[in-house]
Amino acid sequence: MKRILFALGLTALMVSCARKDWKDTSLPASERASLLLKEMTLEEKVGQMCQYVAPCYVPPGQGSPYKNIDATDENLGNKDLADKIRRGEVGSFLHCLTPKEATALQELAQESRLKVPLLIGIDAIHGNALIEGCTVYPTNINLASTFNPELLETIGAETAAEMRQRGLYWTFGPNLDVARDPRWGRMGETFGEDALLVSEMGKHEIWGLQGRDRDLSTHVLACAKHLIAGGEPFGGLNAAPMDVSEGKLREIYLPPFIAAIKEAGVGTVMAAHNEVNGIPCHGNKWLLQDLLRDEMGFDGFVVSDWMDIERLHSMHHWAPDSTEAFVRSVEAGIDMHMQGDNYFEAVVAAVNSGRIPEKRIDQAAGKILEMKFALGLFENPVPEIKTVIEGVGDHGKTALEAARQGLVLLKNDGILPLSSPRRLFVVGPNADSQTILGDWAVPQSDSAVVTVAEGIRDAFPSASIDTLCFGGKISNVDARTIAVARHKASAADVCIVVVGENSQRYSAFGRTCGENCDRDNLDLPGMQQQLLEAVCASGKPVVMILMTGRANSIEWAKDNVSAILNVWEPGQAGGQAIAEVLAGQVNPSGKLPVTMPRSVGQVQNVYNYKHSQYSRQFATSVSGCLFPFGYGLSYSKFSFSEPVLEAAEGDGYGTVSIEVRNDGPYDGGEVVQLYISQEYASVTRPVKELKAFKRIFLKNGESTTVKFEVTTDMLKCFGAGGKWSVEPGEYTLLTGNSSADEDLKSTTLTVK
Ligand code: BGC
Repeated sequence: MKRILFALGLTALMVSCARKDWKDTSLPASERASLLLKEMTLEEKVGQMCQYVAPCYVPPGQGSPYKNIDATDENLGNKDLADKIRRGEVGSFLHCLTPKEATALQELAQESRLKVPLLIGIDAIHGNALIEGCTVYPTNINLASTFNPELLETIGAETAAEMRQRGLYWTFGPNLDVARDPRWGRMGETFGEDALLVSEMGKHEIWGLQGRDRDLSTHVLACAKHLIAGGEPFGGLNAAPMDVSEGKLREIYLPPFIAAIKEAGVGTVMAAHNEVNGIPCHGNKWLLQDLLRDEMGFDGFVVSDWMDIERLHSMHHWAPDSTEAFVRSVEAGIDMHMQGDNYFEAVVAAVNSGRIPEKRIDQAAGKILEMKFALGLFENPVPEIKTVIEGVGDHGKTALEAARQGLVLLKNDGILPLSSPRRLFVVGPNADSQTILGDWAVPQSDSAVVTVAEGIRDAFPSASIDTLCFGGKISNVDARTIAVARHKASAADVCIVVVGENSQRYSAFGRTCGENCDRDNLDLPGMQQQLLEAVCASGKPVVMILMTGRANSIEWAKDNVSAILNVWEPGQAGGQAIAEVLAGQVNPSGKLPVTMPRSVGQVQNVYNYKHSQYSRQFATSVSGCLFPFGYGLSYSKFSFSEPVLEAAEGDGYGTVSIEVRNDGPYDGGEVVQLYISQEYASVTRPVKELKAFKRIFLKNGESTTVKFEVTTDMLKCFGAGGKWSVEPGEYTLLTGNSSADEDLKSTTLTVK
C-alpha cells in the first residue's frame, strides 16, 4: 500500500513539475525566467544580453551605428536589424523616442520564436525629458539642493508613469556618482559631493521609480550608476582614471550604491567608464562580483555603459582586442552590452570554445528575463499609443515646487525681494532660453517651458521690462552686445543678469557643461564676466542669476553684485520659481549640495576635507571655499539653540535635539543639518561629515524642536585594520544650517 501511495505521489509530483510553464502568470518572475531559459538556445540567451540604440535616435546623416542603416523612420524595417530581432538576438533597446518606434520594435520581437519582448530603456535622468511632451523637472543638483528626499520619491513615481505611457520600462538613473570635482561636466546630473545626501536622494528616487517593494508591474526599472568613483577623475575629465584608497571608496563612493541595493532594491547597475586603481570598471571582477554581488547582495543585472566594453581595448589598452574585451567583461560580471556590433558573435564563440561557462550566460540572461517578467512585458509587450501623456499637468506642479525649493540664495545685501521696481533690465544668454532644462533633455515646446524673462514678466506685471538675451548663445556675448547692455542697464532701476553655463546636448547653442563637457576653468564661460562687469559699471543694483550645471567660481560677483541666486538648471517651471523668489512670493530655502570654490586652482574643494588640508595656505590668494556646502540664505532669519544630547535608555548613543525658530519676517523653509567630527582615530578623519538633515517649514515667529538619533552608522569609520567600527574617543556633534563653522553649534559625545 505504502509503495502504491509513494508511486502515486511521485507521478503527481512529476506531472505537476512537467506542467510548470513559463507562461503561467501565477509563478514568480524568477521561476518563469528559469523555465524559459530551459527552452532557449545559446544564441537566444546571448541575444538577451545585447542592447542597441533605437534607429530613430540617430538623426539621418549623422553616422548611424548600424551597417546599412541611415536612421530614419522608414528604416525601422531595416533588414539587418529586423532579422536580428526576429532571430531573438536582441534583448533590449535604448532611446526609442516615439511610441511608434517602440511599437514597431516590439512587434518585430513578437515575430521571434519565443516572442520574448524587448526591454526598452532611456536616460530619464530628471523626468522623462528626452521625450517631447514629458515633464522636465529640475536637474539633480538642483533637486539635491532641496534636501528633500521625499520630493524625489514623488518625482520618481511621476517619471515612471510618464515612461510607461511611452513604452519605456527602464531608466538609466539615478546617477549616484559623488561629484567632487566641478571641472567634471556631469556634476549637474548628480546629487552633489556628499555620500549621505547622494544616498538619501538616490534611494528615494529609486523607491519612486520602482515602487517601495520593487513593484515593477506598475513601475519601471531603475539603474544605479556609475559603479564606481567617476566623480573625481584625474584632471576633471570624464572617463579619466581614478586612484582611490579602500577607505575612501567605502566611505565616499560606495554608500549610495549600498543604500540603492540594500534599502531600495535597485534592479540594475551600470558600470563606470573609468578605471579604479588600474583595473577598468567594465572588466573588474572584484568590483562587479566580489563587492557588488557577494558583499553588497545585488540581485539584479549589470549593464555596460555606452560601448565601454570595446573601450577596454581601445581606450584603456587593457584588453588586446575587442573580442577579448567582450569575453573579459562577461567573466567579470557585466550582463548586458550597451550598443555596438560583434558582441553577440564573440560571446557565443567564447561559450562554444569553453572559455565562458554556459551557466554564466544563464545567470545574465536569467536576470534580464526575470526583470521583463516582473515588468509585465510578456503579458503586454506592445505599448498602447496615447497622443497626450496623462498626468503631465499635475506633474508640472511638482516640477514647480521642486524648483522653488531648490533655488539657493547665496548673497543678498537687502535688495531682495524686489519691492515694486518700475524699470527692470533682464540680460544674459540664459535669460530666455531652454538652457533652463539642463542636460538629458530635448528641446520642449516653448509653451511648456517658463524662461526667466517670461517668469519676470508675469511676476512684475506693472514694471517696464527691457531684455537682451543674446539668442540664448553664450558666444553672442561680445564687445558690441556688451556695450548695448551697458547702455540699457543705465536706463533701469534694477538689472537682473542671467549668466552661467549651457548643458543642452541637442541645441546648436554651444555647450559648456554636461556629459563630456569638462572644463579646466570654472569662471563664467565666454565673455559673460565682462558682461556682468559692464552692467555693474552702470551703477545700478545688480541681481545675478547663476544658471549652471557645475559649481562656478564667482568671487568677483560675490564682492560686486547686490544679490546672487544660484538656480542650477531648474527645469520647465524654473522661470516662474525664480521670478517668485525675486518678487518675494516664495522665500528661498535651497542649500548648496556642493562646495563653491574661489577658483579652479583650489580644486579639490569639498567640505569634508582632512585636518591637514589647510595647515598651509595659498601664497597669493585666500584659501578655502567661496560658499560652503549646506549653505543658502532665506528672507527670514532662523535661530538655532545649542544642541542638547539626551542619553539613550538602552545601548544607544542618545538623541540630539535642537530648537529652531523662524524670527521672521517671512514664513519659510530651512534645512537643519547634523555634522559629526571625530578628532582622533586609527585613521585620519575629515574635519566634519554630514550625518543627518531635515527640511522643515516654519511660519513667521514659529519654532520647533528637531531631533536626530545618534546611530552606530553615524559614528563608525573604516579604520586602520580595514574594518568598520566605532572607535572609542570624543566626537563633536555640530548642528546648524550650513557646514561652515560659524553656522554650527556643538556638543560632545564620549564613546568608551
Ligand atoms: C552615459 C550613461 C548613459 C548612456 C546612455 C553614456 O554616455 O555615460 O550615463 O546612461 O550614455 O545614454
